[in-house]
Amino acid sequence: LARGTAAQDLAGRHVVVSAGGTREPLDPVRFLGNRSSGKQGYALARSAAARGARVTLVAANTALPDPAGVDIVPVGTAVQLREAVLKAAADADAVVMAAAVADFRPAAYAAGKIKKQDGEDPAPLTLVRNPDVLAELSGDRPRPGQVVVGFAAETDNVLANGRAKLARKGCDLLVVNEVGERKTFGSERNEAVVLGADGSETPVPYGPKDDLADTVWDLVVPRLDRS
Ligand code: CTP
Ligand code: CA
Repeated sequence: LARGTAAQDLAGRHVVVSAGGTREPLDPVRFLGNRSSGKQGYALARSAAARGARVTLVAANTALPDPAGVDIVPVGTAVQLREAVLKAAADADAVVMAAAVADFRPAAYAAGKIKKQDGEDPAPLTLVRNPDVLAELSGDRPRPGQVVVGFAAETDNVLANGRAKLARKGCDLLVVNEVGERKTFGSERNEAVVLGADGSETPVPYGPKDDLADTVWDLVVPRLDRS
């Protein structure tokens, strides 16, 4: 189906999508970040809206045009993203965690800009763990029957790492893609395999992120709670 004439198979549903990459501040001018552009998450939000869903898009540090008809909640850090996702997930039928969430954040935040000292080595950077939003949502569904989808970026042993990650996180579907310096980040295209907790394996050929988005919803729809 052409977009715009999409089946309304998400009509009456509320879906939450996280997109982009979190930034963990060190001081007012510096942060630890990642290369996620948010394009895949935005494609998921557009696709869901075209299929009739009410969409909440939790956007971490993206620089992309706002998709029409989507509620956008901008966030900065992993802790802020967790709060926004959990709040929106309370009445959601499905949650798709496409955001690249920083695993760690600096243990301390300097209220003033960190200055270098003449002749002194830099102080080592101490990091602490961030909350794992996907694992938390999967283990304790805010709404019974909610479908939870994760994304995994892997550079090696893509399938084996993906299967292990799906089991560890406890989500229903995990979209696994291979990344590298020139692969996926910021690009318009993506190649992936979607692993299901039921053992299913759906390869998605190299193509536009919109196609992967449509495939994700195709796999979510039959798993939605019908009660
Ligand atoms: N995720 C999350 N909270 C975190 C880290 C990751 O919700 N603190 C979510 C991401 O949004 C993604 C999924 O978990 O949907 C997998 O992210 P990934 O970084 O691949 O998984 P990790 O468990 O962090 O494993 P790794 O050690 O490989 O980074
Ligand atoms: Ca991670």
